[in-house]
Amino acid sequence: MTVITDEGHAPEDPTQIVPAVAPTGGLAEIRADGVSAWFGTHKVLDRVSLTMPAGRVTSLIGPSGCGKSTFLRILNRMHELIPSASLAGEVLLDGQDIYDPSRKLTDARRSIGMVFQKPNPFPAMSIEENVLAGLKLTGTRIDKDAREELVESCLTKGGLWKEVKDRLDAPGGGLSGGQQQRLCIARSLAIKPRVLLMDEPCSALDPTSTRVIEETMLELAQEVTIVIVTHNMQQAARVSSQCAFFLAAQGTPGVIVEHGDTEAMFGSPQDPRTSDYVNGRFG
Ligand SMILES: Nc1ncnc2c1ncn2[C@@H]1O[C@H](COP(=O)(O)OP(=O)(O)O)[C@@H](O)[C@H]1O
Ligand SMILES: [Mg+2]
Repeated sequence: MTVITDEGHAPEDPTQIVPAVAPTGGLAEIRADGVSAWFGTHKVLDRVSLTMPAGRVTSLIGPSGCGKSTFLRILNRMHELIPSASLAGEVLLDGQDIYDPSRKLTDARRSIGMVFQKPNPFPAMSIEENVLAGLKLTGTRIDKDAREELVESCLTKGGLWKEVKDRLDAPGGGLSGGQQQRLCIARSLAIKPRVLLMDEPCSALDPTSTRVIEETMLELAQEVTIVIVTHNMQQAARVSSQCAFFLAAQGTPGVIVEHGDTEAMFGSPQDPRTSDYVNGRFG
């Protein structure tokens, strides 16, 4: 068991030079084992275990406040940045504990990217600079040709290349909301993560942009394991092959009520609470 407190880790070294490609590439499974989480004395997750298979999209569903975002932040070591936050349990990336004291915080962040609900490109930076921003932060040097190639391939994977290839110098803030979110996806791909976490990535977007991002996710899953939090049941059904239903009953921490193949979860849920939720009877 690993217990991490806000005082429990060494500060990151931003000047550190790291390779552009994660040391061990390829598709990776990410697994939570007995994860509990607290803010101060308030326990918000209780012994959550879930395997998110390599090269698949796993959706996390459940009402607001049941701990989905907290769980996602624990998967890439962002939870420990919050003052008063603590956790117990293990997170294994391809069998390796990301909280192992001998592993650096930056390793987890580099291998496990995150896209947030509200698109957060650097508004004054150009589209190209936005894509490359993660490399800058990790101190990675890359020559001009490789840089151009990387920008094109990440924007292509993010489903944005065709729309922006003639204006890579334009500011990221000038794009539409849906385009900004795809730019954020491209930015997170530039550091070659093995897992991409997405916390309600479409909830601020219109239906057309949402569909474009869903298509992007389905294509990306061939090279990166995806975990997405969504309140949209149709979206979970369209994009994910695996699904986990989180629930926090009044005054108790969040747990996983049921998980498994998305089709089975939606078609023949085992727990009446899952059935009520996926059929829109609460939440
Ligand atoms: N930074 C924080 N400080 C204190 N409590 C928090 C913080 N973030 C979330 N919580 C609490 O943790 C619980 C789970 O929240 P969250 O993980 O955001 O749920 P969800 O994403 O499912 O809506 C809630 O009770 C919420 O109020
Ligand atoms: Mg949330």
